[in-house]
Amino acid sequence: MSGAQITIKPLTAQDIPQVAEIFCQQFPSLSWTSLGSNFIRKFVEWHFKFHPELALVAQDDGRLIGFVVGATGGHREYYRQVLHYAFPEFLAGSLLHPWRVFRPSFLTLWLEFFRSLRSTRISPKEIGMAKTGEKKGILCFVAVIEPAQAQGLGARLNQAFEKAAFKSGIEVLSAYTDISNLAARRLNEKCGWKQVRVDPHRKMVYFSKRLDDNL
Ligand SMILES: CC(C)(COP(=O)(O)OP(=O)(O)OC[C@H]1O[C@@H](n2cnc3c(N)ncnc32)[C@H](O)[C@@H]1OP(=O)(O)O)[C@@H](O)C(=O)NCCC(=O)NCCS
Repeated sequence: MSGAQITIKPLTAQDIPQVAEIFCQQFPSLSWTSLGSNFIRKFVEWHFKFHPELALVAQDDGRLIGFVVGATGGHREYYRQVLHYAFPEFLAGSLLHPWRVFRPSFLTLWLEFFRSLRSTRISPKEIGMAKTGEKKGILCFVAVIEPAQAQGLGARLNQAFEKAAFKSGIEVLSAYTDISNLAARRLNEKCGWKQVRVDPHRKMVYFSKRLDDNL
């Protein structure tokens, strides 16, 4: 890792396979990942197609070593968007490969989606923002390859994402992670995100950050 050459730039179509690879490596226990690398590739493509302004990669001498992707709206809207996108994929997959439906990961994924639709809404009061009129965004996934971790790249990606989000008109960002993900929790705290909710039932922690000119 040369370090000095690391640049953060918008995700391009050519980067999608490498981003999908890093995604699968860094989120191995996510139920989405267990649906296979093809699904993750399409999922990254979806981010690139629908929210290109909120998709960045970190490059070191031409090699991708990290990425961050986000979406507009809150958690519920994000899951709705993904569900809407993923539904035909799953349906087609089920018809072509009916045995997939019985895979635990498949069922877990749908349960996760439906649970999320119900319970991830953070009230405006909880994050101290006006009820209406503010444009929200969500930092969905940030990841750095292992050899480059704990050297400040995660924070650089987060900060670049905040700037890109602010530039696109987003005023309040939210994010969430597993309670046990100490690196992600520390990263968010370090970047000035406020912990707004802990959900012991789903084992998730929710963060929020209001964006302004001082980024
Ligand atoms: C979360 C992640 C992106 C952080 O990337 P990173 O490049 O290591 O982040 P940074 O180097 O900027 O470190 C941020 C802070 O987290 C701390 N940290 C990093 N790894 C840690 C770990 N395993 N445990 C505890 N703290 C850790 C760093 O020490 C730093 O805090 P400090 O400056 O006070 O020392 C990276 O660990 C990762 O890719 N994890 C897998 C994917 C993931 O879980 N993403 C987050 C959920 S979307």
